[in-house]
Amino acid sequence: MTVSLSAQKTDMNQFIDNLMSRMTLDEKIGQLTLLPGGDVTTGQLMNSPLAERAQQGRLGAVLNFKGADKIKALQQIAVKKSRLGIPLLIGLDVIHGYETVLPIPLAQACSWDTAAVEAGAALAAREASADGINWVYSPMVDVAHEPRWGRIAEGYGEDPFLSGLMGAAAVRGYQGRHNEYGKDHVMACLKHYALYSATEAGKDYSCVDMSRLRMYNQYFPSYKTVVEAGVGSVMSSFNIVDGIPATANKWLMTDVLRNQWHFDGFTVTDYASINEMTPLGYSKGATSAVRALKAGTDMDMCALAFDRYIKSALDDGSLTMADVDKAVRRVLEAKYKLGLFDDPYHYCNPKQTEKSIYTPTNRKLARDIAAETFVLLKNDNNVLPLKKQGTIALIGPLADDRSNLVGCWSTGDKPAKYTTIKEAMQKYLGSSAKVVYAQGCNIYSDSLRQRAVEFGRPLPWGDTAKMLREAVDAAKGADVVVACLGEMAEMSGESSTRTDLTLPDVQKNLLKALLNTGKPVVLLNFAGRPTVLTWESSHVPAIMNVWFAGSETGDALCDVLFGDKVPTGKLVNTMPRSMGQLPIFYNHISSSRPVADGNKVFRKYQSNYIDETTGPLYPFGYGLSYTTYKYGDVVLSAPSMTKDGKITASVTVTNTGDRDGDEIVEMYIHDRFSSIVRPVKELKGFRRIHLAKGATATVTFDIDATTLSYLDAEGRPFLEPGDFEIMIGPNSRDVKKAVLNVK
Ligand code: BGC
Repeated sequence: MTVSLSAQKTDMNQFIDNLMSRMTLDEKIGQLTLLPGGDVTTGQLMNSPLAERAQQGRLGAVLNFKGADKIKALQQIAVKKSRLGIPLLIGLDVIHGYETVLPIPLAQACSWDTAAVEAGAALAAREASADGINWVYSPMVDVAHEPRWGRIAEGYGEDPFLSGLMGAAAVRGYQGRHNEYGKDHVMACLKHYALYSATEAGKDYSCVDMSRLRMYNQYFPSYKTVVEAGVGSVMSSFNIVDGIPATANKWLMTDVLRNQWHFDGFTVTDYASINEMTPLGYSKGATSAVRALKAGTDMDMCALAFDRYIKSALDDGSLTMADVDKAVRRVLEAKYKLGLFDDPYHYCNPKQTEKSIYTPTNRKLARDIAAETFVLLKNDNNVLPLKKQGTIALIGPLADDRSNLVGCWSTGDKPAKYTTIKEAMQKYLGSSAKVVYAQGCNIYSDSLRQRAVEFGRPLPWGDTAKMLREAVDAAKGADVVVACLGEMAEMSGESSTRTDLTLPDVQKNLLKALLNTGKPVVLLNFAGRPTVLTWESSHVPAIMNVWFAGSETGDALCDVLFGDKVPTGKLVNTMPRSMGQLPIFYNHISSSRPVADGNKVFRKYQSNYIDETTGPLYPFGYGLSYTTYKYGDVVLSAPSMTKDGKITASVTVTNTGDRDGDEIVEMYIHDRFSSIVRPVKELKGFRRIHLAKGATATVTFDIDATTLSYLDAEGRPFLEPGDFEIMIGPNSRDVKKAVLNVK
């Protein structure tokens, strides 16, 4: 195996040496240039500036260029008409599926099911590659503590360990289990390196400033895990890191990424970020381009800065040919690994497109994955599951819409093909129950509508008083009310920062009116982020967070609402009680004057708010099911271990309810005293287990130095002797613990 890998590497090196020896400077700079495809038709393409560049060999990659026919035409120009025939990388933001849309990544993470995430990414790769794409800008593993930041939707939540494992699973799905880049695989791109999610006050494209300790321990581990999984490319972030734009930050792009973590793929900037160093107040023009390349950036996304400035920088000596060659080699290696030099067209076969996209198999998989992502937050009096009989009032602006269910960053969606929740429910129930629908309210108030936040996914707009009357009438005549409320797709995602994460007033008024009818109400909360549901949690009997679950949302919801499947998802972000608590996350450092979560009485001179109960509304890792589980005590295989030793921690888990189900068992650690103060809890293991009703299983976690170590400000692991709490439970709050002494 080793022999053949190194032989492959020798072949690749020889091939690239040979190719590079024949390349002109313009052709080399071309490989470092990524441009947007624009909205040209196949016919227009022939005379477009893009085609001209491809023909001149002055283009390395394109993005946002869709359709197997069109891509094939452009690839043919690059391969057949350019001097050296170097094929193009074709990139797209395939973030959560393609035409078969999967739940947003934040929701996928709530499944805590790495196999599902891997299978979802493999599905996305199959569909996108059949439509000509060979490079996807995913996974995003920016650990996010800040729900005002709309891009929290695109990542895997607030925990570095979980985010890393989810990201690595996605890479396996995209690139192949062993990064073999087979026929149905694409190259993945880890983003946004680094710290993009820690932007101040949750405002996009804003400032980030944090200690190296926090970087290494809370923000870097997820990127590192994905690098170790063999991701082929890495995208730098828009923000500064230690005062220097990530794209021009040599410490970040080379010292950490390549020298400490041994990344051997290529790096790309985020959209035009070389030019954005100017408004950041860092540098202009040629200086930005030089600093980016010198720092370890290989490809320029859409700034045309390498194209414009590399030549003059070589002339004035601020760059050397070796700087350029290093980057060119990495881009060519990526193309080689993808097999593009052998078969530049294997990604653009229109016959394959039809066979592979939005197939019944893909839809079934997406439906199953979606059902795992819903998080049941509350279920008083077992309102859920619903009976498949009687009359159901289905209310809300999202109940009969197709295009918003998929969520943000759905670049391959075809909403006309998808069913709405209303349609899915009517089909699911047939004649056994009646579904009465009313929109009930607009998605938000008129004033927000004027700010035009819909971005091409509008919802019907009606008269508020009239819609409210219709909804109340429908509720009065029903046995149960299902309210589909929350965000619309584009209220999360890029550039969708919000200051208020409570339900918009118009929606809350509707909810109050529905509750006033006295009928049991189920709130399905659509959200691309953790929202504030404090009022709802004390007034609405059943609440399920359904995020944005993709093209198969309607069917997946029916599976869970009517009890064919049980809810199994658990939160990957802490849900706050109020906006003023933000940022709030479970793995924080203790206060010197801590107050226990849940404390309602204000304590002067302690770490709490005058006007808010301490701690979250729902903790990280929380989620209910239609069945219940009982956890036994944590049992350690030994009460102590040496630093290089190994023990196990086990619990028994019993399904005490009357349904079979899947339970996510979570293990956290806490180092009681450390010369570098550590978080109150750190997730270090989890298992998703299936338990038949009445059954008991023993779940065992291995514990060794890797589980217990922390990193210092240089990124070096350290582990000190002392007592560690080993905590296991159904969420980060309700844990049982045992103490392990490390000698
Ligand atoms: C986003 C990236 C995305 C890129 C290309 C940028 O605005 O920050 O996440 O991959 O555009 O579309």
